Amino acid sequence: MHIAIINGVNLNLLGTREPAVYGNGTLADLEAATTAYATQKGITTTCFQSNHEGALVDFIHQFYINSLGQPAGMVINPGAYTHYSYALRDAIAAVGLPTIEVHISNVHAREAFRHHSVIAPVCRGQICGLGKLGYLLAIDALLADKV
Ligand code: DQA
Repeated sequence: MHIAIINGVNLNLLGTREPAVYGNGTLADLEAATTAYATQKGITTTCFQSNHEGALVDFIHQFYINSLGQPAGMVINPGAYTHYSYALRDAIAAVGLPTIEVHISNVHAREAFRHHSVIAPVCRGQICGLGKLGYLLAIDALLADKV
């Protein structure tokens, strides 16, 4: 199985961005830990981060094309795009790949605008508030679906 680990806007700043909320680890640490976990499970990963909505959409389209003919899925933390990007939601729906939405923080314990996700309805599930563990659990969820 091949899984895309997609991080959206501002997640490149992990490690320095609001460490009390998002922890001290960097995006590189997160990608390395996620990839190592996936490798143990016999899964290959492609990691991608962008601050640009269109670049995230382009990546999802390309990942879908590249994955044709093999089992594939996506783990996505869209950052603030979660709350208003219909373009990202439509891209996930368009490719139809099983997708898990992940948030490092517990969005439901934060500002009201973070309580709503326009992405969640096109995902198999949502994991939030468990820090970076959420990405690993998302990999398990995708794998369980495929076994
Ligand atoms: C986030 C939560 C979002 O509300 C926020 O805009 C982010 C990060 C999280 O991982 O907790 O950028 O997706």
